[in-house]
Amino acid sequence: MQKISLINAIQVFDSRGVPTISCKVSLEDGTSASAMVPSGASTGSKEALELRDNDISYHGKSVTKAVNNINNILSSLVIGKNPSNQKEIDELLISFDDTEDKSKVGANAILAISLATAHVAAKANKISLYKHFSKVYRDITGQNVTHCMPLPMFNILNGGEHADNNIDIQEFMIIPSGAKNFVQVMQWATEIYHNLKKILLKNNYSTAVGDEGGFAPSLDSNKEALRLIVDAIKESGLVPGKDVNIALDCAASEFFDDNKYILKGERKELSSIQFVDYLDDLIQNYPIVSIEDGMDENDKDGWKLLTERLGSKCQLVGDDLFVTNKKILKDGINEEMANSILIKFNQVGSITETIETIHFANQNNFESIISHRSGETEDTTIADLAVGLGIGQIKTGAPCRSDRVAKYNRLLWIEEESSNILLK
Ligand code: PGA
Ligand code: ZN
Repeated sequence: MQKISLINAIQVFDSRGVPTISCKVSLEDGTSASAMVPSGASTGSKEALELRDNDISYHGKSVTKAVNNINNILSSLVIGKNPSNQKEIDELLISFDDTEDKSKVGANAILAISLATAHVAAKANKISLYKHFSKVYRDITGQNVTHCMPLPMFNILNGGEHADNNIDIQEFMIIPSGAKNFVQVMQWATEIYHNLKKILLKNNYSTAVGDEGGFAPSLDSNKEALRLIVDAIKESGLVPGKDVNIALDCAASEFFDDNKYILKGERKELSSIQFVDYLDDLIQNYPIVSIEDGMDENDKDGWKLLTERLGSKCQLVGDDLFVTNKKILKDGINEEMANSILIKFNQVGSITETIETIHFANQNNFESIISHRSGETEDTTIADLAVGLGIGQIKTGAPCRSDRVAKYNRLLWIEEESSNILLK
C-alpha cells in the first residue's frame, strides 16, 4: 500500500456560510482524496471541541488555527503511515492531542484528517467507501457487517435553533417506512415535501426553509405542524402510520430553563412529568415512532421517566444526551435512559471512536441513527458510513437543498450499483 506523503487543509464554507475545514490526504503515487467537516448549532455541552479562532474576522468563526494545526503539526504525525490503518492514524492524532475534548488541536482538525484518510484508502484500494468502512469496522471490532440501505428520517418542517419561526420542536421528520427500495423512498419523500409546500401556501403560511431544508412557517402549535404533515402524506396518496411514519427531534435542551420545558410558541411552561405527558399525547394522536432528545441533556430523572413511560412504544434517541461518546452512552444505558443513539462524527471527533460507539450500541441492543449536522457541506461520507456499517437509519435533512440532497443522491447511486443491498 502506498503511504501518506502529504496532508493539506484549507478553510472552506458550510451551508450556513460559516468557515469549516476541507482536508486533502495524498499518497506517494499521487492518489489523493479530501473530506469536509460539518458543524452543529444546537450542540450538546459534552461534544468534542470545534476549534475556532474567536477573533474579529468571520464573526469569530474562522478556523485558521485548526487548519494550521493540520498543516504544521498533525500532518507530520501521519506522513509515512499506511492510510488503510484507520485506527492507528486516529489514535496517533488523539494521543497527540491528549485532552478529553480534543481542545488542544481541535476535534475539527483531527476529524478532517480522519475522514480524508478513509476516502484516500478506499480510493487506493479501488473499493467503494462503504466497503472500506466495513473493513475498518472489522479491523476495530473483529465483526463482519451485512450491508443495507438506511431508511431516512427527512426533516421537512424546521423549528427551534434551525429556524426563525415560533415552533419550539426543532425537527418534524417523515420516515417512508413502507417503501420497497431507496428510489421509492425518495419519490415518496419529495412528493410529500412538495405537497406540504402547496398546503402551506394554501393556508398563507411562509414556505421559507430552515437550516436543514425543511419549511419554517410560524404556526399555532406543534400539533398544527403534525396535522399539516399528516395532510401532506395523505395528499400524496400514502397512508400515515403505514406507508409513512413521523419522527421528532425536540432538541429539548434548547427550551429547558429553570427546570421547566418552555414552549414559547404555545405559551406553556411544563415540568418534566408534564412534558412527558405532552409527548405521550402527541404519540397517541399522530403516527410518531421516534423522538430524539425528548428531554434536556441534564434532566436525568426526566429521561428515566420518559424511557419508562414511552420506551416500549417509541424509539427514544439520545443526541445531545450521548454526543456519540461511548463512555457517556455506557452511563446512560446503565441508568436506563433512551433506547437508541444519534451518531455524529464531529461530536466525538474521529472515525475510530465513532465506530467504537456504534459497536457498543450494537452490543447493547441500542439502535444507531447516522446523522448530518445543521451546518453541512457537499461531503457525503455519512451515506457510506450508514451502508458500510449496516446501520438501518439515517437523518440528513429535507429532500431539498444540495447540502442535504447530496447524501441522498449518493445513496441512490449505491443502490443502483449494488442491487443486492436492500433497505433494512
Ligand atoms: P445540530 O442539530 O447539528 O444543530 O446540532 C441537529 C440535531 O440536533 O440533530
Ligand atoms: Zn438532535
